[in-house]
Amino acid sequence: MTEKRVVRGIKGVKDILPEEIARWQTIEGAARRLSFLFGYQEIRVPIFEVTELFARSIGVSTDIVEKEMYTFPDRDGTSLTLRPEGTAGVVRAYIEHNLGASPQSQKLFYLGPMFRHERPQAGRLRQFHQFGVECIGLESPLADVEVIALLWRFLSAELRLPDLTLEVNNLGDAGDRPAYKALLLEFLKSREGRLCENCRRRMETNPLRVLDCKVPTCREATEDAPRISQHLSPPSRRHFEEVLSGLAALGIAHTLNHRLVRGLDYYTLTAFEVTSGKLGAQNAVGAGGRYDGLMEALGGPNLPGIGFAVGLERVSLLLPDAVVSPPPPMLFVAGFGAQGQPAGLRFLHDLRAAGVRATTDYRASTLKAHLRQADKLGATLVVILGDDEAAKGQVVLRNMQTKQQEDLPLKGAVEALFKRLNRA
Ligand code: HAM
Repeated sequence: MTEKRVVRGIKGVKDILPEEIARWQTIEGAARRLSFLFGYQEIRVPIFEVTELFARSIGVSTDIVEKEMYTFPDRDGTSLTLRPEGTAGVVRAYIEHNLGASPQSQKLFYLGPMFRHERPQAGRLRQFHQFGVECIGLESPLADVEVIALLWRFLSAELRLPDLTLEVNNLGDAGDRPAYKALLLEFLKSREGRLCENCRRRMETNPLRVLDCKVPTCREATEDAPRISQHLSPPSRRHFEEVLSGLAALGIAHTLNHRLVRGLDYYTLTAFEVTSGKLGAQNAVGAGGRYDGLMEALGGPNLPGIGFAVGLERVSLLLPDAVVSPPPPMLFVAGFGAQGQPAGLRFLHDLRAAGVRATTDYRASTLKAHLRQADKLGATLVVILGDDEAAKGQVVLRNMQTKQQEDLPLKGAVEALFKRLNRA
């Protein structure tokens, strides 16, 4: 007996349906266009990697590695993981292919799905998509400014997302961090009783994350915690000052948030996040930062890096309809009758060969049936080719909105239509 039950998709893993595609293509098109303008090249890295890559880069005590990864054994027992983010794979590929040897490969971008086992809610999925960029090998704070400028222009100018805020912080470098962490831990221990269970647990492994906790009592308890900005070495301080003055020079408004820590351990110095007031609880649209120790931690050369990633589902939720590029018009060919039907088929074929988007309905044998279908498909122009038209060597062009019709000679009609549609 055949099983009748419908097989359904997985919770938090969504289909992107044809009706949503124009939004996605608008977003992805803007990402590609802008990356190209800024001199970034596309890279496509695998969707799964050895688990060790993510554990060593994102950090074993992060939420992502501790509880959100899709990890499974390969047939030979090797532990593999669906990528929860893009930076680790890009840095691995950079080392493996010695991309540093080619100056064009310093600046990379990617688009694609990521996987995290989170509790699904609006704007939070288990399979989601990111547009990310990674700028590798540049220590200069101007690289930070460029990456943030790209992110800001993508979200605010290209896609015109509403109610955006850019927040920045300086997390200190590898030299600043140990002394600050010890100081912070001492402070947190003195407030332990006021911290949530999660923070009490995290305190020893990842004390900085406690600053980022959203629980109001934790925020109150850490209000007067020592700030890393007061414990920076002069070079770290200078780096951040130059980032801030670069942003000011480009007119990119930003606020300082000393609690901005980020959920990945590889960050050093600059960290940033763009949120939207229109998103609800999951309000981060895009985020990133510097990761100067990551390449070396993965066994590569000691090269710095900085990048960001944007969550495209969140972008899609915010995207104003006016920004969505409409699909090009579709022409409908209505060929019917003993001569008209084959002539219509040829005409359709010629239109497509000339680069005109066109379709027909193979079931329709009358003009009425064709027009009904053209209407359903939203075609604005219909080419009518019945036996009469075929005999006279012409076609009738019907505007579906105005219902106006005009005759065109069959010879040269494809070129005339191509010109007309490309002018519109
Ligand atoms: P992230 O902050 O983990 O950073 O993710 C970046 C963005 O991805 C978030 O701001 C959010 O918009 C989106 N996102 C994250 N998780 C989900 C989810 N479960 N559902 C929907 N959207 C989500 C990174 O991934 C870093 N690799 C960014 C980076 C690149 N840093 C340096 N280079």
